[in-house]
Amino acid sequence: MVDLRSLDGKTLLITGGAGFIGSNLIHFMLKRFSHIKIINLDKLTYAGNLENLRDIENDPRYEFIHGDIRDNELVEKLFRKVNGVIHLAAETHVDRSILDAGEFVLTDVYGSFVLFEALRKVDIDFFLHVSTDEVYGSRDEGFFTEEDPINPSSPYAASKAGADRLAHAYNVTYGLPILILRPSNNFGPYQYPEKFIPLFTTNALEDQVLPLYGEGTNVRDWLYVEDHCWAIELVIRKGNIGEVYNVGANCEVQNIAVAYRILETLKRPRSLIKSVPDRLGHDRRYALDCRKIHALGWEPKHSFEDALSATVTWYRDHPEWWKAIKGKSKSFKSFYNEYYKNRK
Ligand code: NAD
Ligand code: DAU
Repeated sequence: MVDLRSLDGKTLLITGGAGFIGSNLIHFMLKRFSHIKIINLDKLTYAGNLENLRDIENDPRYEFIHGDIRDNELVEKLFRKVNGVIHLAAETHVDRSILDAGEFVLTDVYGSFVLFEALRKVDIDFFLHVSTDEVYGSRDEGFFTEEDPINPSSPYAASKAGADRLAHAYNVTYGLPILILRPSNNFGPYQYPEKFIPLFTTNALEDQVLPLYGEGTNVRDWLYVEDHCWAIELVIRKGNIGEVYNVGANCEVQNIAVAYRILETLKRPRSLIKSVPDRLGHDRRYALDCRKIHALGWEPKHSFEDALSATVTWYRDHPEWWKAIKGKSKSFKSFYNEYYKNRK
């Protein structure tokens, strides 16, 4: 057990802090602990966005370092300054991994390896590796426990699985203080609008088509990002070193039902939904057994209905945030053009 009553007084390195979960986590930690110090190491790929952190950029408890987790000298230097690491940096979009898996292997697997190697050289209290429920693969019935074998389907999930098992190996082999989290699908503010909920919300706001893969019957377990942040904090403080913790909200919803709910909230017609060719190798359902993290005292505080409505409202009220990405980002447009061209 890490045995930290509080993260107050600690210096944390968060990798990928300019992304969706990372920026929510930085806000969460700064609100929760007055004497924390956070260093955010982010490469600012297409998914990293300093606008997510504009309101706290001058907070003396926060420091941004523009850099790559694969830069071993930089990583080792930063590790020497901190008490703990929360590793979020990754390539994260399944569809992109289907088009081109190279960056996924280089960042998610090799980048994580660089971090674990640096961890061998320094003395740090904990390293929380954020994996994903996708490492288990799909399952039609029942729930995955942390003991179940992993069986990833997409190049993204396989890259995350490689990093997940490296994290385990570095704990077993070198006794490094690593904990592993496997969260389900997050949603909330600042999520890059290529992912399902922000894509459908912002398309609906612009009266654009909502491209539903296949029949829309695939199921995801939706976890509000703030509940995930709270799980991260709790596992750091109370989790056992070397162990894996599933984090899900026990909130399984079919994609089509999520789409209907978004449209209802925005008072847009269902006719905006368009069935498009399915994702290759599309996992049908993810579902986690979360008894282990419940035993630490965690459970989601937000209902899906309220959190989805708050999330949709956030995108409605912050058009400048997502229009800047969708309108200007070449990478966003070229990605979608290529994706649909390849799916015909
Ligand atoms: P995201 O794509 O929004 O953000 C990823 C961040 O990592 C970006 O800021 C990007 O610039 C940064 N990054 C990428 N490569 C980097 C590199 N080489 N060096 C430094 N920074 C780099 O991702 P997210 O949705 O916030 O996910 C964060 C983590 O949580 C990922 O590891 C992901 O696999 C995991 N996860 C996400 C979800 C989800 O639903 N979003 C669920 C389970 C697990
Ligand atoms: O489960 C955790 C994972 O959740 C994370 O590890 C990933 O980083 C994150 O991207 C997410 O993966 P998914 O593939 O589940 O999320 P995505 O938002 O891409 O898709 C959610 C569901 O919606 C999935 O069944 C595919 C479907 N979908 C998605 C898009 C982008 C559509 O029907 N249409 C779309 O345009």
